[in-house]
Amino acid sequence: MSNEADLRATVAKMIEPGKGVLAADESIATITKRFKALNIESTEETRRAYRTLLFTTRGAEEFLSGIILFEETLDQKADDGTPLPEVLVRHGVMPGIKVDKGTAPLPGAPGDLVTQGLDGLGERLKTYKAKGARFAKWREVYGITDANPTPLGIDANAEVLARYAAICQEAGIVPIVEPEVLIDGDHTIERCYEVSEAVLHAVFQALRRNRVMLEGMVLKPSMVLPGKEHPPKASPETVAEATLRVLRRCVPAAVPSINFLSGGQSPEEATANLNAMNVMYPKAPWVVSFSYARALQDPAMKAWGGRKENVAAAQAAFYQRVKMNSLARAGKWTQAMERAA
Ligand code: 13P
Repeated sequence: MSNEADLRATVAKMIEPGKGVLAADESIATITKRFKALNIESTEETRRAYRTLLFTTRGAEEFLSGIILFEETLDQKADDGTPLPEVLVRHGVMPGIKVDKGTAPLPGAPGDLVTQGLDGLGERLKTYKAKGARFAKWREVYGITDANPTPLGIDANAEVLARYAAICQEAGIVPIVEPEVLIDGDHTIERCYEVSEAVLHAVFQALRRNRVMLEGMVLKPSMVLPGKEHPPKASPETVAEATLRVLRRCVPAAVPSINFLSGGQSPEEATANLNAMNVMYPKAPWVVSFSYARALQDPAMKAWGGRKENVAAAQAAFYQRVKMNSLARAGKWTQAMERAA
């Protein structure tokens, strides 16, 4: 298959009806922080046990087309010795891989960050592909203050994100392009809108400059929300309206799918907001779906608590979240369904 045919085949699978993507690609530092908050020790073995629990949840494959892994997980095995990527493939779920190396301050743009990891990426992708990865993820972050992100920050991050996407496509790997406008701060929803518009506009200009095939990528943006320290929370209808407005203005219809990150929203909030978008904009030009980490995992991680005897309860909690978001992806979720569970 040519690269283009490869990319199209992977995307076609990623956008299957009723399905979204699980992000289970927390770096060791990030998952250690999440575990620590629940008094769970973070070792290679506890991380393996936890991810095995998620990946072997019976029935979850009905709602997941892919799972983004961290490098460590690519080489780990389930209890029966099956490599974890192979466990996914057997369930009909595609393995993906986080390929960025986190952020560093951007010189010349005080307060802004830029993501590292482009050097040698082409070579790394060959290794990941040989281990089963069909798509990749790279995240740029944009903190909001009165001065940030700066114009330089917006341009530099867009260029890096687009270069990553071009390198992935050259390797026959579908890039998930993730520009995350952070929820931290006391800014208004209008300010988040303004930043999101500038960021997305720059990202799509850079994707075009780098000749990225829009049909062979997935966009993973943040929703347009008021800052975490700016109560009250916006209603799902307000979030859906602002988010779809900015996406319609910035994202070409050739992009097949938009899979949101949850970005610090509560699990139910992330589901309600996704549902509102699909109820209000059933004819959006792209699939409007999910690629959450925390909003899919938090209840399961809490139920597990690092204890074998809690695996079944954790899997039930995980199943509930993927199912609820599958319904939200079709605009068919109601709050009553949460209470019924
Ligand atoms: P959250 O859904 O927890 O924001 O994580 C998504 C993600 O993949 C961040 O890169």
